[in-house]
Order: sequence, then structure tokens, then C-alpha cells
Amino acid sequence: MKTIITAENLTKRFGDLTAVNGISFEIREGECFGFLGPNGAGKTTTVRMIHCVSPITSGSILVNGLKADVDNRKIKAMTGVIPQEITLDNDLTVFENMMVFTKFFDIPRREARRRTDELIAFVELEAKRNNKISELSTGMKRRLLVARALLNKPALIIADEPTTGLDPQARHLIWQRLRLLKNQGSTLILTTQYMEEAQQLCDRLVVMYEGKILKEGSPRRLIDDEIGREVVEIRIDAAEDARLISALGPVSCGHERAGDTLFFYCRDGREIQKKLVELDLPNTVHRPATLEDVFLKLTGRSLIE
Ligand SMILES: Nc1ncnc2c1ncn2[C@@H]1O[C@H](COP(=O)(O)OP(=O)(O)OP(=O)(O)O)[C@@H](O)[C@H]1O
Ligand SMILES: [Mg+2]
Repeated sequence: MKTIITAENLTKRFGDLTAVNGISFEIREGECFGFLGPNGAGKTTTVRMIHCVSPITSGSILVNGLKADVDNRKIKAMTGVIPQEITLDNDLTVFENMMVFTKFFDIPRREARRRTDELIAFVELEAKRNNKISELSTGMKRRLLVARALLNKPALIIADEPTTGLDPQARHLIWQRLRLLKNQGSTLILTTQYMEEAQQLCDRLVVMYEGKILKEGSPRRLIDDEIGREVVEIRIDAAEDARLISALGPVSCGHERAGDTLFFYCRDGREIQKKLVELDLPNTVHRPATLEDVFLKLTGRSLIE
């Protein structure tokens, strides 16, 4: 697959603070590429440099052969951005918000109206077409941000935490739309702090923390390599760890303590689960491994505090 974005030693400083610290990555045409990380990891700062609204301190980004910070107009023309903040005009209607945006791209008025109505339908907001933004729910506003990002028919779509604050149903609707866009051939960049969102959408992702990339790979691969298939969680006092581990005898699982929980990472958690039942330990959870486990193992912290 063709590479559409190449970033090399990308760095962004705000005064003394290094928000993005010398990262390199490649994004392939037609894939969904994710930046998974907690608050302050540098995700938004990174994507803002890709779509040329934040100057690069050092390093470089090439987007489809165009240089960020040099060919900004051309990069912006081929990119659709779903911003993290809800940047809609509260005093205007759904339809008017879309129409105002078409002016940035010099889309002729008739065509602008046609695309606007088509995209309002795409995100299922027809019933709210003539309502003001202040009359929409958060989920509706986020759907409108998706529609607005598509007005210039972008080959590259950047979704910066597109489902923050949404309930599961609203979140699934956005996921479906993003998957549809990818299936229609768009390249998708997603930033998220939700491991489920990353697992649902991303072909490949990087785990980002404190401005750096810790790991890169497909969600499945990262989970398999770092954790295994299954996790058994036990909530016991940390002082009991050593005793429990010796009572379990030889098991083919790694373990790690984080907060009030002892985690076992296993290919197959059934063996250890059985032993725990025999030891009569309550408060155990046996579940599939997730990207959250990967993050916890790499940083000792959880994704969402
Ligand atoms: N304009 C700015 N001026 C100064 N510091 C900034 C600016 N924008 C971001 N930062 C800092 O850069 C760091 C990375 O911020 P960034 O917004 O990229 O994180 P993020 O991964 O998107 O986090 P979140 O999940 O909370 O959106 C943070 O420490 C933040 O305070
Ligand atoms: Mg952000």
C-alpha cells in the first residue's frame, strides 16, 4: 500500500514544554491510523501539525508528497478535520453552519447546497436541519462536525477524539460512519483515549505518551505481543501478592500490580482462574486482553484517569 503521510523526528515545543518529542511514523493510503494516549500525550498537537494549523518546531511531515508548513493550502484542501472541540456557531442553524464552511473551499453555491443536504442526511440530522446548534444534543453536534469535515470531499480525514462525551449509542453511530468513509477509500487518522474506539476502528496505531511513541502495530498484534490473549484480574491487598503467587505454583502467565489490582497476562487464563477458585479468592475477573492492558503495561498508568 502507498504511504500517504511520512513524519520524521517531528517535534513541537511550547516554550519550555515539549508537547511532541521527535516522533516518526508512516501512514498508508486507505488505512485507519490511530494515536492512542491519555490527556496531554500530544495527540492533538501532532494532528494539528499534519493539517497545518500549528507550525512545526523541528522535523518534517510529508502529506501526499506535499510538505507541511510549506504547501499548507494544498494540504488543507485535501483534508477534512473533525476537531476535538465543538467549533460550531451556536446562533446559526445546522444548514447554515455547513454553508458557512463551504466558503473556505470556494464551493459554488448550488453545489454547496447539494453537498450540505447530502451530508446532513449522511449523519442522520435531517430532522434538525433548520434548528440552531444550541438546540442540539452533544451527539448531534459531533455528528454535524463529521458532516462538516466532509464538505470538501477530503481524501484524508482527521478525527480528533470524535466521540468524547457520547453515550454508547451515539458513539456507535459515529464509528459506523467513519468505517463507511474508510471503506469508500478515505484515509483516516484517529486520535483517541478510548481503547475500545481504537480497537474498533484502527488498522494500525501508535501508543503515545508524554510526547513520544511507545509502540506501533495493529491492535491485535500489540495485544498479542505485549499481553497475550487473556487477563485475569484479582483485587487483593498488595502485601498478599508474593504469598498468592507462590500458592499458585508454576503458571504460564506474567503478572503486574497496578493500584488495587494484581493482573495476570495469559495465553489462556482458564488454568489460573481454576486455581484461584480453588484458593477461594473472591473479586476475580477473567476477560480478553485489551489495548488498555497494553498501555498499563507500558506506562504503569491507565489511559483514562
Ligand atoms: N497552544 C498551546 N500552548 C501551550 N501548551 C500547549 C498548547 N497546546 C497544547 N499544549 C500542551 O501540550 C501538551 C500536549 O497537548 P495535546 O493537546 O496535544 O494533548 P492530547 O494528547 O491531545 O490530550 P487530550 O486527550 O487531553 O486532548 C499538553 O501538555 C498541553 O498542555
Ligand atoms: Mg487532544
